[in-house]
Amino acid sequence: MAGRIPKNFIDDLISRSDIVDVIDSRVKLRKKGKDYRACCPFHNGSNNSSFSVSSDKQFYHCFNCGVSGNVVTFLMEYDGIEFVDAVEVLAEQLSIEVPREETGHKQNATSYVDRKDLYQLMADITRYYQQQLRTHKNSEKVISYLKNRGLSGKTAKYFQIGYAPDGWDEVRKTFAINKQTEQQLIDAGMLISKDNGGSYDRFRDRLMFPILDRRGRVIGFGGRVFDDTTPKYLNSPETPIFHKGKELYGLYQVKQAEKDVKRILVVEGYMDVVALGQFDINYAVASLGTATTPDHIQLLFRQTSEVICCFDGDNAGRTAAWRALENALPAIQDGRTLRFMFLPDGEDPDSLVQKEGKDFFEKLIDQAMPLSDFLFQQLLTQVDMRSADSKSKLAQLAIPLLTKLPDSVFRQMMETRLISLLGIEKEGLQKLLPAPQAVEKKATSQKITPMRLAISLLLQDPQMAYQLAEIPEFKEMQIPGLTLLNSLLEICRVTPHLSTGLLLEHWRNEPEEKLLITLATWKHQVQEDKYEEVFFDILDKFLSMHLTQRIEFLKQKSRQGETLTKEETLQLTQLIKEQKQH
Ligand code: UTP
Ligand code: MN
Repeated sequence: MAGRIPKNFIDDLISRSDIVDVIDSRVKLRKKGKDYRACCPFHNGSNNSSFSVSSDKQFYHCFNCGVSGNVVTFLMEYDGIEFVDAVEVLAEQLSIEVPREETGHKQNATSYVDRKDLYQLMADITRYYQQQLRTHKNSEKVISYLKNRGLSGKTAKYFQIGYAPDGWDEVRKTFAINKQTEQQLIDAGMLISKDNGGSYDRFRDRLMFPILDRRGRVIGFGGRVFDDTTPKYLNSPETPIFHKGKELYGLYQVKQAEKDVKRILVVEGYMDVVALGQFDINYAVASLGTATTPDHIQLLFRQTSEVICCFDGDNAGRTAAWRALENALPAIQDGRTLRFMFLPDGEDPDSLVQKEGKDFFEKLIDQAMPLSDFLFQQLLTQVDMRSADSKSKLAQLAIPLLTKLPDSVFRQMMETRLISLLGIEKEGLQKLLPAPQAVEKKATSQKITPMRLAISLLLQDPQMAYQLAEIPEFKEMQIPGLTLLNSLLEICRVTPHLSTGLLLEHWRNEPEEKLLITLATWKHQVQEDKYEEVFFDILDKFLSMHLTQRIEFLKQKSRQGETLTKEETLQLTQLIKEQKQH
């Protein structure tokens, strides 16, 4: 198995790739002044030039939603892949091999090459299942099942639905051409290994729904039986390429169907997504038998500004909706809407749309309940407003929830609503509420200290410190942030042509990463042609501060009656002389 990728290889790779080319091949960029602009691919906004890519800095930044990063970050976020894969993608584009450090112990991470094989196998098997649907001796049964469920051949094709033949080793026979491939099929969840060696097909005699990732690659399957044996649906297990809680069935198709996705409906089942698709409702996705996770919510709001979660009208449905609400609160920024739709008893989206048709169903979507209504409605069912302590109980329940919301107009509206329910003054609530987090964050990140400014300037133009001599005083001084500045300088002074994007790579996953990114995108008021001047001015100030401190220290010492050593006396006169020159 592969070892770690050497750090200097990653540096080299980033400096050899061009972020403008990489992004432009995925999101069309327009030149604007020195930089490039585009509609931000990471949030759904009408401002189509908030996303800026700098060739000098090798860094992107969206002024609107705040995302930023270097070329590796972009690939990870945009392609939805992991760090190592992003590095491999870059290397492949430059036709270079990724070296691996020798490691004594085995790594358990599956390498990119291995994963690439898995994707290929899954694609081949998908095609095979589709073919079986038409040609297998059970074909008639399968096709009439689809017909009975109201699905056309077109819809089946659109969702790449197929048939896993009955028999224990149809996939194995067709695909496991050698031991290595057999192991890969086991890794991909398509074969199950037997205790006494060998393996057999996981999916047998089932209607197969391929699950696609954000790039349209098949990463897993859900397979339905044709009768009422259990389990009704069999799903791929977690594999190196399939992580259930992070994927949504149908999301790729939603993105394919519409360029600008106005809203997304979240339903429970594969069949619901497919049946809605049959009725031209092409914006439904299903969480794969799990509750809606925070990852799901983040992912959804990257594609659209309105999410409607659809649930059964029963108690279980309400409980599931409440869980989704709690997971979603931190993601509800202004401009993002979350609503809840509850179905009549005994119906699911599939049955309802088949019975009532598209217009009726879309009317129900339009009438879905806003998050705010659902939240207060549910809270009020838990509190008896006639009892004496009802208000404090309501406050107790509501405050932890409202606190999860980011600071926004929406949050203020929710607070106002709570205030009026509690019948208290605004100040009364302020006392109960902890300060919103976003406000605190702003206060610290906007406080201009010389250290913050120096670090920010250096991040934005790292080349100004190239070949800068070491400053020994900086090793002795104690100013908050100086250690970080020293580490930055250490890299800058020895790296020619250093870009912001590359410099930041050294802090990936480090505790300081977030702060550094904030400072790299910080809009201080310094003009670009004054960066060097201001930066070295600050360094000078630090030095004279050090001088003053040292002089003070020595004077203090002699004042307190201690005798200074010969060297110290000499140093003191020297320092005072220096200070006068400053
Ligand atoms: P449902 O039981 O509501 O099925 O499960 P459905 O979508 O209405 O399917 P049909 O209409 O009977 O064909 C909803 C979802 O829960 C997961 C699946 O993701 C399914 O789509 N599930 C359900 C399983 O994973 N395994 C099961 O055995 C049942
Ligand atoms: Mn159903």
